[in-house]
Formats: sequence, C-alpha cells, structure tokens
Amino acid sequence: MSSDYLLEIEDLHTSIYTDDGVLRAVNGVNLRIPKGTIVGLVGESGCGKSMTARSIMRLLRHPARIDSGRILFGGKDLTTLTDKEMREISGRDISMIFQEPMTSLNPVLKVGFQVEETLRVHGLAASKEEAKRKVIEMFERVGIPEAEKRYSAYPHELSGGLRQRVMIAMAMILKPKLLIADEPTTALDVTIEAQILRLMRDLCKESGMSVLIITHNLGVVAEICEYVYVMYAGYIVEHAPIFDLFDYPRHPYTKGLMASIPRIGGNPEYLYTIPGVVPNLLHLPEGCPFSLRCSAAEEECRKTLPELVRTDEDHFSRCVKACGEQSLEGRAYGAGRE
Ligand SMILES: Nc1ncnc2c1ncn2[C@@H]1O[C@H](COP(=O)(O)OP(=O)(O)OP(=O)(O)O)[C@@H](O)[C@H]1O
Ligand SMILES: [Mg+2]
Repeated sequence: MSSDYLLEIEDLHTSIYTDDGVLRAVNGVNLRIPKGTIVGLVGESGCGKSMTARSIMRLLRHPARIDSGRILFGGKDLTTLTDKEMREISGRDISMIFQEPMTSLNPVLKVGFQVEETLRVHGLAASKEEAKRKVIEMFERVGIPEAEKRYSAYPHELSGGLRQRVMIAMAMILKPKLLIADEPTTALDVTIEAQILRLMRDLCKESGMSVLIITHNLGVVAEICEYVYVMYAGYIVEHAPIFDLFDYPRHPYTKGLMASIPRIGGNPEYLYTIPGVVPNLLHLPEGCPFSLRCSAAEEECRKTLPELVRTDEDHFSRCVKACGEQSLEGRAYGAGRE
C-alpha cells in the first residue's frame, strides 16, 4: 500500500436499516486522498456524499451503519478503532465542517470561548492569552469582520454566514491532517466563499493538510480541487484529475452535471438540466443506476451494473460507453454546452 495516501477508503458499504427496507447509501466506494491534496466529492442531493463523510468520522447513528469495507487513515483502519481511539483521532488529526453548522455551536457559550476550548483541549496554546490571540487571528483569516468584538459574541448574535465561518475557524485552527468539509460554503456569499476556499488552499500548502470537499457545486470543485470523485446513487461513477474531468468527462452523469453549470454569457433559457431525479436508494433499479435518466442508455445498461473501468491514466468511469465519449456528443449532453 502506498504511503502517499493519507486516507484510503476500500470497498465501503454503508446502509440505513429503515422500517421500509435497507437503503444502500454508500455502495462499494473506493476513494483515496493523497497527502497535501484537495479532493472533491460531487453529486446531486441524496447521492450518499454526507453518509460517506459520516462513515469516515464514524458519526453514523442508528439505524445507519457500516456493513463492510476499510477506511485506512495513515495506514490505520478507522472502522476497527475503539470509540476512545477514534475520538482522539477525530479531534486532532481529522476535523469536519458539517453541512448544518448552525446546530453545532453551543448557544450559551461565547463563540470565541468555544473555539479557544478546542485549542486548549488539544494542548495547542500555552496560555489563555495565546489561545485568544490564535482564535482572533483565525477569525480574521476566515473573514469575520471585527474579529475581536465577535470573539465575545454568542451564536444567536451572529448571522448564519458568520456562525458558519466560526465553525470553519474551529475546524481549521487545529491544523488537522485531514479536513472533511461538507458543503462548507453553500450558505455564504461568493466573496466569502472565495476567501474560504483560498484559505483552505493556503493551509494545505502551509501545513500539508489534505481536504475532502463535498459539494454539489462544480464551480467550487474547479476552483480548488486537484482530483474529483463523482457520486451517484451511492456509487462512485467517475473519478479523475480535475482537468481531465472537465476536459474529457466520460460518464453521462458527469457530462449532465457539467452541462447544467450556468455560464457567463450563456442563455439561461437553454440551461440544461438532467431529466428525472436521483432514484430512491431503497429501490435501486437493476443495472446502471443512472440508466433511467440517461438518453444514451441501451438494453444492456438496464440489466448489468457496469464496472468502474480505467479510461485514461488515473481516470475511471462506470459506464459501458466509458471510452466512447465522441459517441455521446450531440445526444443528450450537447444541450447547454457551448
Ligand atoms: N437518517 C436517515 N434515515 C433515512 N434515510 C436517510 C437518513 N440519512 C440519510 N438518508 C438517505 O441516505 C441517502 C444519502 O444521503 P446523504 O445525506 O449522504 O446525501 P448527500 O449526497 O449528502 O445529499 P445532500 O447533497 O442533500 O447533502 C439519501 O437517500 C437520504 O435520503
Ligand atoms: Mg449531504
């Protein structure tokens, strides 16, 4: 196993055991994050992105659980650690920015104190003064105006965007080896979004931090990721280095996502949307899960789930037509492209 990878997820299966049946939220996912690299995980709502992140952090609650697979972090399989061992790693070495950060702050404690507490618990500040200085510095870096004043604010005194930036500061202040950021900038305006993305990139360079950024926004991916995984209905359907993915998307789903990106100067009337919706993961269709929405699908696609095959160096696609990019051109995915 190569030591160039900080995180290696191998054949991960995570399911939710609902009253209506077993929902396969993460279906045989393989994903690797090299050291010091920003990797993206993209896909529409309900594709299993957050469940993948929660599996890594071991934050699954009943009735969800990991059925099988390994999650190697620095060579250690996180799925086999005790709760105590996992708490140590997930506090210090792996941080997560949650999709719903508003619920993660304690309403009765000042935000500065809460972030400071994180530093103190991990022994990263020699004195109270040093801790406060570091917190204010980080508040400034994540774009909190009047950082010193905001230090003494309670969560309810801050806007949603500011609370989210506090959460981002809390996750980044420990300089974790791995930062898992689940839709970290969705609630922020574009200027602050750009600032946060730049900060993540800087921290990556400074401290060698790796990032898994989860988003439905391909613009965010294009901005900072070096490598991208595309997830659909619990499966990874394509993964490739960023430029390969944008220049030569292989999977019809990825092509559909790309065609749906609004473009400056493009006519909004012709903005493409992928027809249909993500299937209910309780009742996945036979064969390729995207076949129901794919205008290029053939009989075979509705019968057999395609393998994830290599199409180019370090580029993989789960489509029987993986190598036939040209053959799809001008069919469903030409719409909306320029
Ligand atoms: N507690 C739960 N009970 C039942 N089903 C759940 C639960 N949590 C998630 N799911 C289902 O698991 C699937 C994957 O959900 P997940 O939250 O990972 O999606 P996602 O890709 O993060 O979507 P989004 O972009 O909306 O955050 C979805 O079909 C969702 O409905
Ligand atoms: Mg999610």
